[in-house]
Amino acid sequence: MSNPEIDKRKTFAIISHPDAGKTTLTEKFLLFGGAINTAGAVKRNKANQNTTSDFMEIEKQRGISVATSVMGFEYKGKRINILDTPGHKDFAEDTYRTLSAVDSVILVVDSVKGVEEQTQKLMEVCRMRNTPVIIFINKMDREGKDSFDLLDELENSLKISVCPQSWPIGQGYTFKGVYNIYANQLNLFEPDKAKVTEPVIQVKNLQDDLLKQYLKEKELDKLSGDLELIEGIYGPLDTEMYLEGLLAPVFFGSAINNFGIRELLDTFINIAPSPSTREAETRVVEATEKNFTGFVFKIHANLDPNHRDRIAFLRICSGKFERNKFFYHTRLEKKLKFSNPMDFMANEKSLVEEAWPGDVVGLYDSGNFKIGDTLTEGEKLQFKGIPRFSPEIFKEVENRDPMKTKQLEKGIQQLTEEGVAQLFVQQPGNRKIIGTVGELQFEVISFRLENEYGAKCAFRPLTFRKSSWITCSDKKILQDIIYRRASNIAYDKDSNPVFLADNDWAINLAKRDFPEVEFFTTSEFK
Ligand code: G4P
Repeated sequence: MSNPEIDKRKTFAIISHPDAGKTTLTEKFLLFGGAINTAGAVKRNKANQNTTSDFMEIEKQRGISVATSVMGFEYKGKRINILDTPGHKDFAEDTYRTLSAVDSVILVVDSVKGVEEQTQKLMEVCRMRNTPVIIFINKMDREGKDSFDLLDELENSLKISVCPQSWPIGQGYTFKGVYNIYANQLNLFEPDKAKVTEPVIQVKNLQDDLLKQYLKEKELDKLSGDLELIEGIYGPLDTEMYLEGLLAPVFFGSAINNFGIRELLDTFINIAPSPSTREAETRVVEATEKNFTGFVFKIHANLDPNHRDRIAFLRICSGKFERNKFFYHTRLEKKLKFSNPMDFMANEKSLVEEAWPGDVVGLYDSGNFKIGDTLTEGEKLQFKGIPRFSPEIFKEVENRDPMKTKQLEKGIQQLTEEGVAQLFVQQPGNRKIIGTVGELQFEVISFRLENEYGAKCAFRPLTFRKSSWITCSDKKILQDIIYRRASNIAYDKDSNPVFLADNDWAINLAKRDFPEVEFFTTSEFK
């Protein structure tokens, strides 16, 4: 049975390689949605600053103003929840986790640079979950790649079919606007960073005389030729395929100039999925179920030294979340109630009384939550879909202040629970190995251990570059590899054995020596 509260919700993330225009597009959505009045109101959290101090400054600001983690607003009767993702590649893991909490994504691609490294990685994560993707090709006001070449590049490197919804007329200096293929509208481009409307010319078809008033004959000929090709190659949009994550509608525009945003947003609210089903370990949960369920996908430290608590971000999957009602924490097997849950509208946070599937609420936490934890009304349930990925840099933790051993242990434990990095423990000797995707995280960990826990540590680089989670139906064989390859084996936070290797070659060798053992690049293989 449908529920209007669920149907009106659209929860998504805007993702891109750094600098493609994610922050700008987010801000323009808020502007179009009336959630902010001026451009520039959204805090830049790009963290393209590569020094720790700059980064920590940003983190501090974010710590205080966690509201930017989720931005909710109403638009044409829909409740839109944009989940923010960090721009810096060293924090990609945080982005991957956030993607577990959305129902769809908008992927921004720079028309000059095309598909970049981070775009590909993010897309892989979307493909793992069949997340529906809309692509926005940004910066059409700049001399970029040929639009057909871009479409080919998207299909080939992102391994997804595409279907253009609008088509650019010219590019860069000659950029005239876009033709909305299915609405038969000509949207004229006027560079302007502040406006929220754009001139739209409604025509019957490409033969409409009105077009001749705006486009030169050469431009019109080129547009007709292009559209004929597009119709032949791509055909009309198959929304079923989009919803299955197999086909991405493509829009062209210029976020900084507010161009192409409205048609993107309007199509988005029409076709993007509302919350539906979520896979748990034992069953599939329907958003329309009466009983409340939800899971924590992100934990944000409150960097204010006077407040040691953290904020756990809970995505609601079914039922209704209510303030001051007892919910069941399935890992700890205990009941908890929340007197100050937070809701996020634009960049304001406020107390929430109730929330619905698709919504994200912030819960003050004094140490009850780990990423992936599930809350229910009593059912023993664990949501799937928050895998850990193999880190790329591994370093051993060396205690630099033996008087603060306890603080160090606690700090490492809590920071890794927050998902700042992954912790692996190697025997004998309980050696602690931290794995990350970027150097910056080690600096953040040192900084936070010292500032928040008063502990000092150093990191000793290791040669490992990859981790594979291992399993085998024959426990004897599993014990055998653990014993014989002891120097490569460590245990993750859930005590699962992990094979650490310097390169693929070493993993392949181990696979050859232990053919019965299965190797997985993510932690979620059950
Ligand atoms: P990100 O979050 O994906 O990292 O990208 P962000 O939005 O911060 O945009 C990166 C840069 O690209 C910014 O310039 C932004 O102004 C610019 N940009 C965004 N959209 C467009 C567009 O449609 N056309 C053009 N030409 N540029 C665009 P910046 O100089 O790095 O920052 P700022 O000084 O403008 O804030």
